[in-house]
Amino acid sequence: MRLIIQPDYERLSRWAADYVVARINAAAPTAEKPFVLGLPTGSSPIGMYKELVKANKEGRVTFKHVLTFNMDEYVGLPEEHPESYHSFMKTNLFDHIDCPKENIHILNGNAPDLAAECANYEKMIEEAGGIDLFLGGIGPDGHIAFNEPGSSLTSRTRQKTLTTDTRIANSRFFGGNPDNVPAHALTVGVGTVMAAKEVLILCNGHNKARALQAAVEGPVTQMWTISVLQLHQHGIIVCDEAACEELRHGTYKYFKDIEREQL
Ligand code: GLP
Repeated sequence: MRLIIQPDYERLSRWAADYVVARINAAAPTAEKPFVLGLPTGSSPIGMYKELVKANKEGRVTFKHVLTFNMDEYVGLPEEHPESYHSFMKTNLFDHIDCPKENIHILNGNAPDLAAECANYEKMIEEAGGIDLFLGGIGPDGHIAFNEPGSSLTSRTRQKTLTTDTRIANSRFFGGNPDNVPAHALTVGVGTVMAAKEVLILCNGHNKARALQAAVEGPVTQMWTISVLQLHQHGIIVCDEAACEELRHGTYKYFKDIEREQL
């Protein structure tokens, strides 16, 4: 696993966006062979999305031949709801880049048959040739997408019940009341993320420090689902200084040293 430590959120966002741009451009995608990108929501990726919009407007990257698959969506929240992940993606990315609508995939949390929706999503990813690069954030409890503590580390796309902790964390988007946060979500599985050719996780702020420590220094465990990234052949976490608070001094210095050319 690579751990890239950036001084602050702005630099972290720029590093992540530059990485995505470089990977897309290196793949030189075409209509026949598109680049397949997994995308997260949450506050962590907002800065990176701003940088990607900028890069697209400046002609440094095009999304014409990029297929996207989002990680998750709430169950039962109308797509037009301002806090749905459909709305989030439009507002923060898709309304501002040249990615064709038909290339965009987001789970439908209002599908009549949610299990079929999830199975079909996995099938679409497979038909696209798998995810080339999966981007993600981390919940304060170490969850990836909506794979809450205790989720199977080989899980695939399915419906999950959100923990009280996550509903409290996300209540800031729902008028401060955890009861207004949907209780269920559809989410790609830990196994879905791990099947991607590369995974890049963004982790910023003091409230993620325990999760980062568990991810980097802890054992692989279902109680911190992000920890499974240790088993990925091409896993990267890019974090800011604030998120490093719980890392051992030696761990911090070690990654600073081996990644120093990245600073
Ligand atoms: C939600 C999302 C996750 C995200 C997490 C952290 O639970 N389902 O994909 O990583 O929030 O969000 P934030 O980036 O706002 O801290």
